[in-house]
Amino acid sequence: MWGGRFADGPSAIMREINASIPFDKRLWRQDIAASRAHVAMLGAQGIVDAADVAAIDQGLAQIASDYETNGPPEDLTLEDIHMTVESRLAELIGPAAGRLHTARSRNDQVATDFRLWVRDAIDAVGAGLAAFQAALLARAEEHAGTIMPGFTHLQVAQPVTLGHHLMAWHAMIGRDRSRFADARARLNRSPLGSAALAGTGFAIDRHATASALGFDGPTANSLDSVSDRDFALDYLMAATQCSLHLSRMAEEFVIWASQPFGFISLPDAYSTGSSIMPQKRNPDAAELVRGHSGRIAGCMVALTMTMKGLPLAYSKDMQDDKPPVFEAHDLLALSIAAMTGMVETTRFVPERMRAAAEAGFSTATDFADWLVREGNIPFREAHHITGRAVKLAESEGIALAALPLEALQAIDPRIDARVFGVLTVDASVASRTSHGGTAPDQVRARIAEARASS
Ligand code: ARG
Repeated sequence: MWGGRFADGPSAIMREINASIPFDKRLWRQDIAASRAHVAMLGAQGIVDAADVAAIDQGLAQIASDYETNGPPEDLTLEDIHMTVESRLAELIGPAAGRLHTARSRNDQVATDFRLWVRDAIDAVGAGLAAFQAALLARAEEHAGTIMPGFTHLQVAQPVTLGHHLMAWHAMIGRDRSRFADARARLNRSPLGSAALAGTGFAIDRHATASALGFDGPTANSLDSVSDRDFALDYLMAATQCSLHLSRMAEEFVIWASQPFGFISLPDAYSTGSSIMPQKRNPDAAELVRGHSGRIAGCMVALTMTMKGLPLAYSKDMQDDKPPVFEAHDLLALSIAAMTGMVETTRFVPERMRAAAEAGFSTATDFADWLVREGNIPFREAHHITGRAVKLAESEGIALAALPLEALQAIDPRIDARVFGVLTVDASVASRTSHGGTAPDQVRARIAEARASS
């Protein structure tokens, strides 16, 4: 491509370090789409004549259908997907192929292709997250009234419902969807026509190529356009945040599936056995979702470090932008699918959840709140009185509700038999009627809202 200036070809090592075709061949669809938009515009502007435009467009269509079946070839001498496509075009249509690169550089070409690829990736992730949320809604509805312990510090804190817990996950994923949507809106400007860095003297129409490729319009500054990889970092940062959420959910699956918890039984489809311990049913998919989040964050850090300190405009370092994005995307898409599958198919074990919620004095706060409400006792004092009751129950090895009334009245005479009415887990959960609280009616109301807005 630059034979005019060079006498010798590159060494094998140069060829190897320079080539991006082993990974950027994944951009072939976007590369051909952008080239077709570009050549159509060159034709419309009278920069390339109609016969050459038609030959180039047909050649590109033929290459696309060939790659669809066979994939693009991986020839290191052709360096990247852009040169691979162009050289194939020359084989197919001859010297007219050389007109395709008029008023364009690989710098704006790769920036355009990669934006298009990341946009598709965002759309795919968005669809995956929507399906995940639908699965969460269905299971949350089913379990809007199923009692489980809520935890802080992984210590039993207060009873909640499983539906409430699943809707917490739904809310986390909702923020991820909005982060990806923000990233999409920000990336949707076309760098095509920025050429190498300074723009071009040809009378191109950047608005036309932008709209042909589904962008909202052209970017504003050619220097920025060929050196900007914010869109890739936006994607990686949203992916990192999303994978952190998935990892935390996966961790809960791992805990819930453990024998001491026994809150869920994972289906065969999402478990593995042990080659030595016949009884084992391991939550490998959940563990790998948890593990993958570390790799996804690593991809985000990799591109951050690549971009740090690069002067305007393009530098070859930027070729390293693609592998971390591709890797993170593959890991994220698989993680979302695995979490969706697990949520859809897991068997919840309500008896175990209820038993755990009933242990650990989870209604102690309800006891203290009752003292505040019925005895007009300041909360701090009520907390202290309840603490003494918990201490007594603990030393007797019984639940709060099993303490005799006389024992409670010995702690504080203002306690009467009505307190037992608030000490069951069902009463506790039903009482949490504040907006977004765990009362089953609240959970159902939030589910209905989520359904209406999804
Ligand atoms: N393979 C290159 C990349 O992915 C394409 C751009 C090459 N530009 C250049 N000035 N050498 O970044």
